[in-house]
Amino acid sequence: MQKVVTKMSELREKIEELKRQKNAVVLVHNYQRPEIYDVADFLGDSLGLSKQAADTEADIIVFCGVNFMAETAKILSPERKVLLPRPASEVNCPMADMVSAGGVREMREKYPDAAVVAYVNTTAKVKAEADICCTSSNAIQVVRSLEEDEVIFVPDRNLGNYVQRYVNKKIIPWEGYCYVHNRIDESGVRKAQENYPESELLVHPECRGEVIDLADRVESTAGMVERVRTSEPGTFLIGTEQGLVNRLEQLAPESDFYTAGTPRVCSAMKQSRLTDVLTALEEEKYEVDLPEDIRERAAVALERMIEVG
Ligand code: 13P
Ligand code: SF4
Repeated sequence: MQKVVTKMSELREKIEELKRQKNAVVLVHNYQRPEIYDVADFLGDSLGLSKQAADTEADIIVFCGVNFMAETAKILSPERKVLLPRPASEVNCPMADMVSAGGVREMREKYPDAAVVAYVNTTAKVKAEADICCTSSNAIQVVRSLEEDEVIFVPDRNLGNYVQRYVNKKIIPWEGYCYVHNRIDESGVRKAQENYPESELLVHPECRGEVIDLADRVESTAGMVERVRTSEPGTFLIGTEQGLVNRLEQLAPESDFYTAGTPRVCSAMKQSRLTDVLTALEEEKYEVDLPEDIRERAAVALERMIEVG
């Protein structure tokens, strides 16, 4: 046991040393393994990570998250080397593959007056077809900022339908979904609420509408972190990927956290280990590379989103 602890601390030291030598930063999503949190220069949600990637002066960004997040970093910071600790094919978000660039073009033909909003959980090719991007923390704001009264929203139907509750525009959702959030079941969530009647239920907007209906608050992962950080100690039911429960337990050990419904894990988010981060820095792999024409067009949609907030 002692040896494992020593090994992890040695790994952390080596990573920190290489970060200094190579002027590198490690950006980490909230769903990553806790061992990765320890080497993070920034830990947050998709919006926070996009802003960090756009603002950094580092030469190398090691992105611990999923493929579309690392692509977003490259789109916003083309002059930096962006590295994934695991090959892109192992850290793919299945929802991002549920819509293609051709699918977006067909929707545009069908609804010529509609604007296209692409959730950041999309490929660079899909972002290149969009008018603007959004994340779970700014989707309502982004849709409200548009002049058009009709909005094609890709790929998450749950997030699109959630936004529809708050805007006076017609949302035309694509039929995509996140397999992790879409499986969080209403009956499991109700049971958790019965077991902990004094609790506060925080759910992610990628959940189904009937789960959102039960929530006290609907938040991005960073929104949940912020809510817990600024609340009195208490009991929280968490309706999102299991990694966030680890994150919140570390942040607020005096509070109690329970998974709302059956625990759900995002496989792609759990692929990267600390050893992979070290290898990424040593060997400068796996590098994210995008065709420049796609990158430039995708950057327009992402930069518009960042201007909105
Ligand atoms: P956040 O932007 O809320 O962190 O969500 C990212 C994600 O992939 C949710 O499944
Ligand atoms: Fe994609 Fe869902 Fe995993 Fe987020 S939790 S990266 S949306 S599969």
